[in-house]
Amino acid sequence: MQTILITGGAGFIGSHLTRLFVTKYPNYKIVNLDKLTYAGNLENLKDIENSPNYTFVKGDIADLDLLTSLFNQYNFTGVLHCAAESHVDRSITDPLAFVKTNVVGTVCLLQAAKEHWKGNMEDKIFYHISTDEVYGSLGEEGFFYETTSYDPRSPYSASKASSDHFVRAYYHTYKLPVKISNCSNNYGPYHFPEKLIPLCIHNIINNKPLPIYGKGENVRDWLFVEDHARAIDIIFHNGKIGDTYNIGGHNEWTNIDLIRELCKQMDVKLGRPEGTSAQLITFVKDRAGHDLRYAIDATKLKNDLGWMPSLQFEEGLSRTIDWYLNNTEWLNRVTSGQYQDYYSGMYGK
Ligand code: NAD
Ligand code: DAU
Repeated sequence: MQTILITGGAGFIGSHLTRLFVTKYPNYKIVNLDKLTYAGNLENLKDIENSPNYTFVKGDIADLDLLTSLFNQYNFTGVLHCAAESHVDRSITDPLAFVKTNVVGTVCLLQAAKEHWKGNMEDKIFYHISTDEVYGSLGEEGFFYETTSYDPRSPYSASKASSDHFVRAYYHTYKLPVKISNCSNNYGPYHFPEKLIPLCIHNIINNKPLPIYGKGENVRDWLFVEDHARAIDIIFHNGKIGDTYNIGGHNEWTNIDLIRELCKQMDVKLGRPEGTSAQLITFVKDRAGHDLRYAIDATKLKNDLGWMPSLQFEEGLSRTIDWYLNNTEWLNRVTSGQYQDYYSGMYGK
């Protein structure tokens, strides 16, 4: 029997992780703490919201009093820490929001866990979900390893790097039983349409320009979100305390090639003549400090714990597009209201 606190469970990755744990482990009690920022959406969890082993709490991870009372109430045996401000472009316009949630919020969570588990750290796990962006930017060659030095370059990655350092500091100083994973770019259902893939799917449906930063030559390593959730499950249960695991898709795409593949698939699915969606591609001003390339070496996770990505990218992309085409109400709801202000601020009307 475990009682697990998942933070940020109403977001993109958090909702997949919550669904996996609630359905796969009916004997675990899962408490989802989420502030419901613009990126958090309880609709993402509609199918499991009434499960007897699931509870939702609305709140901020930077609220230490709330965390302390939740630890007292539920006696958590594990934490899966997913909550974060996650969008690089927003971190460029509002870095402080990233410090508050990603740094201060993570330290509050560490502090609450340390105080509650003091004297009895046995069988407890504090799992911190992090990103490959902490390693910085690669040139055309090479990979990020667990041993690669940190070199964050955006306010987002600097805040995530800082949170990783605090997690390790609590392990070394207080013996808090921590695990960390650093994952590459995720894609899949429930991805908020401010990020490249869902933004372009939404724009293709609506015949709007597809904004590609710079020349579209930046490279990302894409992983289907359910494969990430599966990796977290394996590391949570079988990974070594104090260790870090890289998670990645071994699936590098330049942004322009990825969007061309997306356009090709969407033309077929929407019954449009070949080449229609690609005409929407528009090169726009580059992101400030835009990291050139990310590529994860996930050999440790494969060799030690037997995890591998399960899906080919073209198939994962096809499943993702189908999900958005079948869930236009979800897409319309999340892109109404505040999203319009964000969009015109970033890209113009
Ligand atoms: P997301 O933006 O979709 O979701 C974040 C969730 O956290 C939302 O539900 C939001 O409401 C919640 N949240 C934000 N601030 C909070 C606060 N102060 N208190 C409580 N809840 C709060 O993010 P995501 O893309 O699902 O990313 C989840 C985690 O995975 C993040 O830690 C991110 O750094 C990491 N990560 C993401 C990717 C990716 O490609 N999306 C890749 C690697 C790692
Ligand atoms: O690598 C893991 C990271 O991946 C996560 O930690 C972040 O939370 C997640 O947001 C993601 O960061 P990126 O900046 O790589 O993702 P994004 O979808 O914003 O951008 C992917 C690439 O596409 C990047 O090179 C920037 C580019 N891009 C993005 C947008 C939104 C564009 O060319 N145009 C756009 O409109």
